[in-house]
Amino acid sequence: MSQRFTNASLMRGFLSACLKMERGCVEDQPQHGENTPRQRNSGACCGWSRTTHPRSGVFRQALIVAGAAWLLSAGHLLAEDGYRLWLRYEKVEHRLLEAYAANASAIVVQGNTPTCAAIREELQLGLAGLLSREILLETNVPAAGAVVVGTPSSSSLIASLGLDAELKLLGPDGFLIRSVTPNGRRLTVVASQSEVGALYGTFHFLRLMQTRQPITGLNIAERPALERRLLNHWDNLNGSVERGYAGKSLWKWDELPGRIDPRYRDYARANASLGLNGAVLNNVNAKPEQLGTEYLKKAAALADVFRPYGIRVYLAANFAAPKKLGGLPDANPNNPKVRKWWNDKADEIYALIPDFGGFLVKANSEGQPGPQDYKLTHADGANLLADALAPHGGIVMWRAFGYNSPKVDKDRAKRAYLEFKPLDGQFRDNVIVQVKNGPIDFQPREPFHPLFGGLKQTSVMAELEITQENMGHSTDLVYLAPMWREFLESDTYAGGQGATVASILARSPVTAIAGVANTGTDRNWCGHDFAPANWHAFGRLAWNPRLTAEQIADEWARATWGNDAMVLATITNMMRGSWEACVNYEMPLGLHHLMEAGGHYDPKPETVNQGAPEYSAWYYHKADAKGIGFDRTKTGSDAVSQYAPEIRDRFANLDTCPQELLLWFHHVDWDYRLKNGRTVWEELCFRYNDGVEYVKRMQAQWEAVRGGVDAERFEAVRNRLELQRVHATKWRDTCIRYFQSKSQKPLPAYLTQVAEKP
Ligand code: GCU
Repeated sequence: MSQRFTNASLMRGFLSACLKMERGCVEDQPQHGENTPRQRNSGACCGWSRTTHPRSGVFRQALIVAGAAWLLSAGHLLAEDGYRLWLRYEKVEHRLLEAYAANASAIVVQGNTPTCAAIREELQLGLAGLLSREILLETNVPAAGAVVVGTPSSSSLIASLGLDAELKLLGPDGFLIRSVTPNGRRLTVVASQSEVGALYGTFHFLRLMQTRQPITGLNIAERPALERRLLNHWDNLNGSVERGYAGKSLWKWDELPGRIDPRYRDYARANASLGLNGAVLNNVNAKPEQLGTEYLKKAAALADVFRPYGIRVYLAANFAAPKKLGGLPDANPNNPKVRKWWNDKADEIYALIPDFGGFLVKANSEGQPGPQDYKLTHADGANLLADALAPHGGIVMWRAFGYNSPKVDKDRAKRAYLEFKPLDGQFRDNVIVQVKNGPIDFQPREPFHPLFGGLKQTSVMAELEITQENMGHSTDLVYLAPMWREFLESDTYAGGQGATVASILARSPVTAIAGVANTGTDRNWCGHDFAPANWHAFGRLAWNPRLTAEQIADEWARATWGNDAMVLATITNMMRGSWEACVNYEMPLGLHHLMEAGGHYDPKPETVNQGAPEYSAWYYHKADAKGIGFDRTKTGSDAVSQYAPEIRDRFANLDTCPQELLLWFHHVDWDYRLKNGRTVWEELCFRYNDGVEYVKRMQAQWEAVRGGVDAERFEAVRNRLELQRVHATKWRDTCIRYFQSKSQKPLPAYLTQVAEKP
């Protein structure tokens, strides 16, 4: 028995658009699985002549014929809007087409679960797009060239291959992709212990074609480095997104659970394609109402959409919820009624969402309630919630982001370590402490947080920020994978050399990583057409932290922009140095927290806030007539001593401290000479200017791809690059002028114009 899937997947969106035109104007809404680049003249009914009006049958027929020819004509650069992210599945070039087609001529996915259906659909969509032809969907004995996907328990074909032992080694999410010839028939097998693992393998197989790799002689075995790979959405119940720069929240709380936006499913597809398997739906600055029955039902509706794609729902919990939502007099962990409230709440949640992942908690941080309100510790608070979730298999991700009390230490960078290190070993097994990559707060560059390697008997996970809060929002093109690689590869020396952050994360009893999402309702999901590269890179690194930033950029660029060699080289070139450039035009040499207090977009190095010194820029740079930088060595705050001795000594010594972190750890004279022969003042000027120059080079490079990519995205990126140039220049000029007012040093010739500006 076979079903036919025609290459009308290319046509599907187009046809449905035509049908909608029958009904009236096309609504500018995506359809799930739409594989057709949309046309943007959707609302153009008005002003059309009678015969060319969309309601006219003549018009419709002509449109379908013309559209089919247009869509199927190779090399046509269609208008695109970025909605399809890296799942565009554009037709492969002629030279590869037949070879690919011969090895993906039919699809066999045995099993009738929603995940099996998702696998089938993705393969159908992907192969029809990539190969531009009919693909047979078989249910039984495959023809030569078929792709067989499944698990030994759902597929007799997979079971017959005797892969069980190998699959067991790869864990539930891991998969094998193998070219095999049972009974002399050439097949490609995508197998896993779990259906979700098979889905990950499916995406990987499609990625091979998207990135033009061979699909014969395959012997691929993948398993994720970490068990839980999450996005943290800082989405509020009113639809706004904290530090969100791509429109409103994806979750339409007012419509849920009644209406399911098709976009939820495409969100799940995108995440699953990277191996992401969890989403914390709401802001860490959590409203108690999020745990109310009404909103739990809405969250359950989202969980139902995500489940086939292996994505579990988590919620950020407000620690005071028993009081604010439950009406109890307090939220004290020692109050039996509070314990009961959390236990009952957990029961209620799991009745609605049986695979609920757990809670994320921001406690006693930036005004949020927490156990310290009752003179109890973070461990007491985390364990309270952990006990409630434990019977259901849930976890608590307890954030270590806290710097409330100057009493803990005058140096904000030291406070989280000082609060959490004494609690090491006191957390329940289902608690994992979530630590931001650096000890301050998502600055353009930070050293790794000393709690990585510092906590030895507690599970630790990393929190990265995908949304560009301090790096130009969704205006600036900043590819973050190099930063995350630098962080993940940092050697903590915990227990000896080679204890990289990545290995620390992988050795915890509970293993996890989280990225603060950059998604929103903008049609292209992330605002900037390059910003999905960071969502993509986070997901890929969460799966495999050893992938290089270059590999991931290449993969993303091919899938997102096409495989033209010149376009690819240009795009990956632009991305490669873009993070370092942003560091340079904003906060080079280890400078940090120079941004203005509210929006974190513009520079404000002069900020002084007497009441809350940690919100002052001056607190961090300490620039005066003599020098600049925060002394965190023994002569200063001694934050260096929170690291293992090898790292402490390296950071503390001016000769060995990485130049990139110089002013993070040292206060030096303006005339202090660096290894490259420049003084700190000269290097600062050089770097600020170099950052701006990089942006100008990106502008020039982008001009070179004009015509090589679709006009719609070309123009959008072009416009944002110009805004980035203005933004970078503002940072450079503001900071140079301010620091010069302190140093009184002459400006290098290439910056003299800076002083002249108002
Ligand atoms: C940063 C950010 C806040 C956020 C906080 C957090 O300070 O600016 O918006 O709430 O981090 O991570 O909790």
